[in-house]
Amino acid sequence: MILFKKAADITAWLLKSKTAGKKIGFIPTMGALHPGHISLIKASKKAGSISVCSIFVNPAQFNDAKDFDNYPSTIEKDIDALEKAGCDILFLPSVSEMYPAGTGNAKTYNLGYLETVLEGKYRPGHFQGVCLVVHRLLNIIPADDLYLGQKDYQQCMVIKKLVELENINTTIHICPTLRETSGLAMSSRNMRLTEESQKQALKIFETLSYLKNNSKPGNLTALKQTAIDNLTNAGFKVNYIEIADAGNLDIINHWDGNSKLVAVAAAFLGEVRLIDNMLL
Ligand code: PAJ
Repeated sequence: MILFKKAADITAWLLKSKTAGKKIGFIPTMGALHPGHISLIKASKKAGSISVCSIFVNPAQFNDAKDFDNYPSTIEKDIDALEKAGCDILFLPSVSEMYPAGTGNAKTYNLGYLETVLEGKYRPGHFQGVCLVVHRLLNIIPADDLYLGQKDYQQCMVIKKLVELENINTTIHICPTLRETSGLAMSSRNMRLTEESQKQALKIFETLSYLKNNSKPGNLTALKQTAIDNLTNAGFKVNYIEIADAGNLDIINHWDGNSKLVAVAAAFLGEVRLIDNMLL
């Protein structure tokens, strides 16, 4: 694996490969890698692309300074895992390399409704920060294909919108959420949970499964309230549990039985905020 820290160097190297007819698959991450991240590298490898992973804990997308300060960093282990997965290139920039002019005058992306609901509502500014970093990364890394995890359902929709808004010539691939055998969605933030609270965290998966198994055409309000009560009684501070249209994230209170639905949840377990989702 080749490691680049400078934007100009990786761009020049990748443009040369593209001229030689190679395709570039890109997997942006914030590190603290787990098998969920590695599954994205594998998807890119399977497509026969030069696989580029970036590790950058993006300060611009943390609306909570404590969350940023506590974000896990396991860089040596990450490099090892990427080598084992056969990743070709790692981009590991500094904050000043990513944002040489700072982020004070950053542009605003017109994300519309997506920025007002669910993660958008509970993490103001978060998706602007995600767009800022992904836009900059895609300027540095001329990716043919971008691999994202369904784990961050709304983020996938936001990045699709970014690519549309900015006319970026990159195809987005959404890969399934990797889970522990218990069902708990793999997440870098799980590292901050004790063994006991990892068991407790499983309740999110159980609650989403409950919604999946019990959603019927008609009014869904009581079902959603039961789900919120279940998680609250299990010791979570719930931000939201919702059932939404899988295509546009419109909140669905009355289901016609036809539209495709997704159940989405965000809740704090102590200081750790966890999110998950399930197609119904
Ligand atoms: P991060 O949380 O490190 O996630 C990097 C990628 O891995 C995202 O596309 C995410 O959806 C995917 N991922 C995380 N957990 C997964 C799981 N259990 N199964 C499958 N895929 C999973 O998401 C970010 O970083 C950042 O917002 C980023 C896009 C890099 C911009 O800074």
